Amino acid sequence: MEKEKNKSDLMEKIISLCKRRGFVFPGSEIYGGLANSWDYGPLGVELKNNIKQLWWKRFVQQRDDMAGIDAALIMNPKVWEASGHLKEFSDPLVECAKCKRRFRADHIDSNYEKTKQFDKNIKCPDCGGRLSEPRQFNLMMKTFLGPAEDAASIAYFRPETAQAMFVDFKNVLETSRKKLPFGIAQIGKAFRNEVTPGNFIFRTREFEQMEIEYFIKEEGWQDVFEYWKKEMWDWSLNDLGLKKGNVHECECEPENRAHYSKKTIDLEYEFPFSRSELYGLAYRTDFDLKNHFEEPPYQDIETNEKLYPHVIEPTFGVDRSVLAVLCDAYTEESERIVLKLKPTLAPYKVAIFPLLKNKPELVDKAKEIYDSLKKEFSVAFDDRGNIGKRYYSQDEIGTPFCITVDFDSLENNDVTIRDRDTMKQERVKIKDLKQFISNASA
Ligand code: GAP
Repeated sequence: MEKEKNKSDLMEKIISLCKRRGFVFPGSEIYGGLANSWDYGPLGVELKNNIKQLWWKRFVQQRDDMAGIDAALIMNPKVWEASGHLKEFSDPLVECAKCKRRFRADHIDSNYEKTKQFDKNIKCPDCGGRLSEPRQFNLMMKTFLGPAEDAASIAYFRPETAQAMFVDFKNVLETSRKKLPFGIAQIGKAFRNEVTPGNFIFRTREFEQMEIEYFIKEEGWQDVFEYWKKEMWDWSLNDLGLKKGNVHECECEPENRAHYSKKTIDLEYEFPFSRSELYGLAYRTDFDLKNHFEEPPYQDIETNEKLYPHVIEPTFGVDRSVLAVLCDAYTEESERIVLKLKPTLAPYKVAIFPLLKNKPELVDKAKEIYDSLKKEFSVAFDDRGNIGKRYYSQDEIGTPFCITVDFDSLENNDVTIRDRDTMKQERVKIKDLKQFISNASA
């Protein structure tokens, strides 16, 4: 009980820090907000962009077997017919007869996925009212293209970025001249009319994904699956810096798998509210390409064989990455709160302080260093309050290094650098600062 309370307190503290320091704000707040919509603020967008850039560099730019795309959010509705989303992409919804609240049947009846029978003894978790029989609710978000709001102009915001990688397969193949095995990657928004969004940025109706569709020959798919599983682990632990004990691997039961998948493994994270899905890895077989292309879209150059490539799909939620990173980094020490972010992810790499605000020679020197470092890193400048308060403020947003310019700096051309995690301070020559920060935040 106590442990549960601490966990919910932790979530509240993280949400409060995010708002207070400009990581994430409630969306449309001045109009009373919009349920489960969140805006990334000045620091949040830096953190999120750092994650996306690292991912793109690692999985696209540094590989010879990957090509990137950035496709339209709204695709021809025929895409969703062919992909099976119009028919299959739904959740079972039950409604309370008394308070009219809606729930996912599989969230409140743990046997539902297996039995497909909803336990009639389960009452509304909110008011104890009677719950309806489950009905399937399609998660695709609808809109109309053009002025007429009729059936012919219905379109959908994409519920996953993946389909564009299948639909554009031939165009990418012809322009990039890749050979199997190779992947197509994309980062972008996806939309789902979730029945029960919640838990801050964990489950929202508008979110971002980083996805790879990795095309292979069917034979040996298990090895490629294992390879991508290792890549996902490595990204989670080494690039994001998540603690090993907080990440778990879990194979989905067949009844929990998406309609296109023959095998799915989730990486789960110990979020404060529960252990829940962070990322997914699926073997989508040739399901998607077969549905979109009448003829096999790939011809083997050596054998001339025409074939439908099979697909291994590693998929990464951007917002869940941000949330996991924040939860993992949040640390309370005796007199301070520290976000122990990896320096590569931190919104600011370094903060510059003049020791005293009212000494122009110190402020000028600090500004000079700030202007020079700003060309290479994201840098904060702070001259408010005392040094202790400035350290506290930077610790709370995860800035790995703070530089103080004092009177000795004017004489010796050096500064004090204080390390966020150890709080140790050392003197470094101003001319060596760039190298020092590059080395320490690589
Ligand atoms: N293309 C496969 C696919 O979309 P998914 O498991 O439905 O698979 C992939 O979604 C990832 O997208 C999830 O592992 C999660 O990180 C993220 N995600 C899914 N639904 C989300 C939501 N409603 N809010 C935030 N992130 C979500």
